[in-house]
This record gives sequence, C-alpha cells and structure tokens, in this order.
Amino acid sequence: MQPFVRNLWYLAAWANEVPAGGMLSRKLLGTARVIFQRGDGQWAMLADRCPHRFAPLSRGRRVGDTIRCGYHGLGFDSTGACVHNSFAGGGIPQGAAVESLPIVERHGGLWFWPGDPSKADPAGIPDFTFLEGSPNVFTRLLMDAHYELLTDNLMDLSHAEFLHVESFGTNGSLLNHGKQTVETDDSGAIWNKWDMDAVDPPGWAQPMLQPGEEVDQWIHMRWHAPAAMALSIGLARSATGRRQLVVPAMLDPHILTPETHSTTHYFFWHQATEDARAMAEQVFRREDEPMIRAAFEAMDGVEFWDLKPLILPSDNAALRARRRLMKLRADEDAAPTAA
Ligand code: FES
Ligand SMILES: [Fe+2]
Repeated sequence: MQPFVRNLWYLAAWANEVPAGGMLSRKLLGTARVIFQRGDGQWAMLADRCPHRFAPLSRGRRVGDTIRCGYHGLGFDSTGACVHNSFAGGGIPQGAAVESLPIVERHGGLWFWPGDPSKADPAGIPDFTFLEGSPNVFTRLLMDAHYELLTDNLMDLSHAEFLHVESFGTNGSLLNHGKQTVETDDSGAIWNKWDMDAVDPPGWAQPMLQPGEEVDQWIHMRWHAPAAMALSIGLARSATGRRQLVVPAMLDPHILTPETHSTTHYFFWHQATEDARAMAEQVFRREDEPMIRAAFEAMDGVEFWDLKPLILPSDNAALRARRRLMKLRADEDAAPTAA
C-alpha cells in the first residue's frame, strides 16, 4: 500500500513562513518542494529539483514570477515549465519542466494537493477560520516520529494525565470522571470529546477560584483527514451551564504533515509571550516528542496493526481516524487512475 493518501489537502507551511519575494524549500511527503508567491498573489509549488543537474531550485533566485536555477541558469515559471535558457541560441530544451502541485492559501496556511490535480477542490480544505487575523505566533516543530503516532497522541489526550502532569497540573479528573464521546459530523470530521462535570480544578486554575469550588471542563479534539486537528478546551464554574468561564475558552490548531515516513511537520500556534513559547516547547518538544519517538523506535519498523496493539476504550477516536486513512489509502491503491 502506498505510504500516504494522495488526494487530500495537506498543510505545507504557514503563509508567513515564505519570505516576501523569496522562496521556501520544504520536504513534504518525502519529496523536496519549493513554494513561492506570484506577483498576482497566487501561490506556486514546484519540485525543488532542476531537471538538468538536479540542483535545488530554491538555491536559485526569483526573477518576476519565475525561478532562475542557480547552477546553469534555466528559468521555470509557476506551472513548472522551462521558460528561459541563458545560453545564446540555446532555446527552450524540449520537454524541460518540473512537477507543479496545486497550492492555495486558506486560514493563514498554504495547503497543497499531492494527488490528481483535477480533483483538487479547495472547498475540501478543513475549516480553520478561527486562525484568521489572530495575533498568536504561528509556528512549527519537526518531530522525529510517524505522523499517525502523533495523531494517536493528539486524538487521545488522556495521556496528559501522565505525560503532562506537571506542566498542566492534571489531577486525575479525566481518568476518574471523564465522559468520552466519539462522533463523526456532517463535514466528515471525527471528534473526540472528553467532558468532566463538577470536578476539582486543575492546579493552574485553583488561584482563580474559591477554595473547594468545582468546575466543568471540556477537551474536544476535531480531526480531518489526513491529520488536521483543532482542539477546543474550556473551563467553567460548575453549575453555570458552562457560561461562567474561569478563563477564555481556547481553540488551537494541531496540524500534521509528514515530512517523510518517519518525521513530521507539526504546525501549531501559541500566544505571543515568552511564557507561552516556553510552555509549548516544554510540552511538545520535551514531553510529547521523546515519548512518541521512543515508541516509534520500539516499533522497530513494524506496521502498527502487525504489532497487534492492545486497544483501550480511550483509543476509540484515534482508531477511527487510523481506519479512515487506511480505507482512503486502500481506495487509492485500488483505483486505476489514482495519482
Ligand atoms: S542544474 Fe539547473 S540549470 Fe543546470
Ligand atoms: Fe501531549
């Protein structure tokens, strides 16, 4: 089976990662790509490898809406066609072109389609409208693990009771009182919802409450294939119908794109403060990543299902997402025209 679903939108980069008038080189789904913006605002994604002697085009320079290769000067436009040859009388070499992929800007991100271009409908990009116009810092980590293990991690946040117990001041409320609901909505999104009513507050919230006061807490994760997640977290004074919030409700992106079969771009954001940056670094880089990487190494290259994983009820949503991806891959393998 092919390693990745092709006919889906993947997040390639936050739009502000691409320098104005410049280029961004990034390995995505195992292949190096170069991304740039044309003068009319449209985006372009090309294979980051010149067809002549394979120099990365990103080592060249922008000339208008083209890239001029830095090695021997061939120029390529945003469709990947060779449109310039610096050698006198050289003309455009027959068939000279690089692969071009559909890429569009939505919700502050650049989404690309590695599959059949005729199927690339931007209406299929998951709704991340809440990202637009935010003062938050859009960021990315490169994680040493298969992206589906990272999805498992995010679709089952019960691990916070163990792995993040100090960072989040978790106190067992999810384990002891959490009600889990797994559902699929009309957009095809899979939701994992943990709801904890009338429980003791987590440690960080205690200074904001009266001694002994209880809270209602919810942790809802939404997943769209292949791995675009949004996390909604809330904490309200108990018995107020979740109307008296202790802190403003949070909505955060957790979007994964495979760099390779064993490494993953993890896109998220944090508030524009040093404390928030340090917290993200601590939680994702120092707590999640080492555990997930160690689990990936312990799998020793064997497929997830071949290891016959023990299944807990809390895995329900993550497994639903895994099965959806498996079916999408199998369908693409079976389709005679699969790109
Ligand atoms: S490698 Fe690009 S023109 Fe030669
Ligand atoms: Fe985590």
